[in-house]
Amino acid sequence: LNNGLARTPPMGWMQWERFRCETNCTADPDNCIGENLFKQIADVMVSDDYKDAGYQYVSIDDCWMLPERGPDGRLTPDPARFPNGMKALADYLHLKGLKLGIYADMGLFTCKKYPGSKFYLELDADTFASWGVDMLKLDCCENGGIEDLNTGYQVMGLFLNLTQRPILYSCSWPACAGSKSNYKVIAQHCNMWRNYNDLRDDWGYVYAAIDFYGNNTANFQQVAGPGGWNDPDQLVVGDFGLSYDQEKSQFGMWCMMASPLFMSVDLRNIRPKSKELLLNKKLLRIHQDELGVQAYRTSKHDGLEVWLKPLHGQYFINGSYALAVLQYYNYGGPLKYSTTLMDLGLNNTQGYQVTEAFDGINMGKFLPADTLEFLVDPTGIYIVTIIPKF
Ligand code: GLA
Repeated sequence: LNNGLARTPPMGWMQWERFRCETNCTADPDNCIGENLFKQIADVMVSDDYKDAGYQYVSIDDCWMLPERGPDGRLTPDPARFPNGMKALADYLHLKGLKLGIYADMGLFTCKKYPGSKFYLELDADTFASWGVDMLKLDCCENGGIEDLNTGYQVMGLFLNLTQRPILYSCSWPACAGSKSNYKVIAQHCNMWRNYNDLRDDWGYVYAAIDFYGNNTANFQQVAGPGGWNDPDQLVVGDFGLSYDQEKSQFGMWCMMASPLFMSVDLRNIRPKSKELLLNKKLLRIHQDELGVQAYRTSKHDGLEVWLKPLHGQYFINGSYALAVLQYYNYGGPLKYSTTLMDLGLNNTQGYQVTEAFDGINMGKFLPADTLEFLVDPTGIYIVTIIPKF
């Protein structure tokens, strides 16, 4: 969507995977879906360098509303959990240099059965803009089928535009439209769009999403670029289910795939190694590269899959690449990957500077016919940047 937003893949924090739908603040005051949670997360995003690293949006997901619309027809945040209202929360975030994301559903109900926006799209766009909302995730539960999806998402985009407030538009459209998705149209109307199932805190789910992207069945890769991004769902780095290797794999692949980076983790209490990973500047430079090309999978066999992402932004001269090799076997030990750059289609006669990406290890200069080798752990990843020499 060409609305000036998301020129590089958006970054932030989102409630859903980690905090779900706890609405009882008496039972669980620190983790219930209410303004305290979002304010505390925002405070940590500023004090612990996430904001400086580029994480900007603090995004509320389902379960923030009262079960009924107000007498004026408007969606109403539960006053017990958002006692100061949404405008005050937006102001709080804006003062800190952060942005507020909110959640609604284009169907009759949200996925957790709160009021949907069907028949209220204009009013809801207007309400969100009046609160100072900066991002809308529009879900598609209880949708009325493909025609409704196609119309609903386009019409809401129009109403958001008419508010004249810049609101990043995140659509679940293709996640519900499936094989009927027309990605060219979706990319014209949304800044990001969910393609696949909800991600969970589990390697099987993370790898299934990576493999879905690798298969690129509906040709969605080609439509990604400045202004519009494919969204494989939130990061679970720092939660409970992934090993450190797997956290590197998720984070590394999301950077390679130019995926929106929405952390869903308790930032108030996160392992130092996971935090360091989320703040890794070298990986974030690959992610934020202005060329904005999503990595494509060039091969997958014998336990290893290879991904290439062309780079050409302020940190990478033309002809640069990030190369990721992921071991998709979840058994045994490290596997050796071996290639020449020529075999990857890289033929610069002056050669290339190759650098391991996570730790910035200088691996030296490689001519196109030289052999590049490294080991990749089971369910782990190895990423290098390859920069032409002149
Ligand atoms: C759907 C979405 C999730 C989340 C939940 C909320 O499942 O795909 O990302 O928003 O609804 O109920």
